[in-house]
Amino acid sequence: MSALLYNEDAVAGIGQVADASVDLVIADPPYGLGKDYGNDSDRLAADEYLAWSRRWIDAVVPKLKANGSLYVFLTWQHSPEVFSYLKTRLAMVNEIIWDRRVPSMGGSTRKFSSVHDNIGFFVKSRDYHFDVDAVRIPYDAETKKARSRSIFVGKKWLEEGYNPKDVWSVSRLHRQHAEREDHPTQKPLEIIERMVLASCPARGVVLDPFMGSGTSAAAAIRHGRNFIGFELNPDYFAIVEKRVAKAVNGNQRVKRAAASLTSVL
Ligand SMILES: C[S@@+](CC[C@H](N)C(=O)[O-])C[C@H]1O[C@@H](n2cnc3c(N)ncnc32)[C@H](O)[C@@H]1O
Repeated sequence: MSALLYNEDAVAGIGQVADASVDLVIADPPYGLGKDYGNDSDRLAADEYLAWSRRWIDAVVPKLKANGSLYVFLTWQHSPEVFSYLKTRLAMVNEIIWDRRVPSMGGSTRKFSSVHDNIGFFVKSRDYHFDVDAVRIPYDAETKKARSRSIFVGKKWLEEGYNPKDVWSVSRLHRQHAEREDHPTQKPLEIIERMVLASCPARGVVLDPFMGSGTSAAAAIRHGRNFIGFELNPDYFAIVEKRVAKAVNGNQRVKRAAASLTSVL
């Protein structure tokens, strides 16, 4: 098992990753909305942002194996154009709406409050890896009872749970949340773990070009996947190193293989 962490620009450094070597790309790039990541990465004008998006997509897509997958987090502002471009390189399987469960706090009086991310799920070929059993959601006892008609008895989906739908309702991480690190757009582990479990085979390779606080690294290691990641900001990179060490220590199987685990570059 290995975790290769690069504190550098993903587009500049991606040459260090072999072509056709990655099972799953989880890309959570700057959204093009002017967020402060301690650098200028999210201060591009719209046309520059789209040109940059095409550059990272062109750099990352060749790294996918023939049955590999890519998830990208975006918002409605740029998702139509970025999805359109990705469709010229990959096949689109889903648009997943992440409902961040932002509480009602008054909000704008001139529009509806935006509380979701648009996540694109793309694959290199129709032969893509997808383990639905790893991400089934169990029914509660009450719902199961309501499906007690004979035609439902013994159905796998009823016993083991249903396939998650394409609207994922998971609260964003509040300041007080136990998982929370000092990063402005940290994603909940629950979301990233679902992507890893569904779309990366056991002992496969996850690539994250924009690690931020390292949620994808923690998720990959917790579930015994290899990991490669890039992050520009040295402060965030230090958080990633800390989370990787914690995830290694928390996974006994990975810990036993730790001699070869962490190559921090
Ligand atoms: C949306 S955040 C990722 C958040 C991450 N998914 C998490 O859960 O913490 C995007 C990150 O990409 C980093 N970044 C921006 N441009 C980059 C580039 N060219 N190469 C590597 N990292 C970059 C930013 O510093 C920021 O931390």
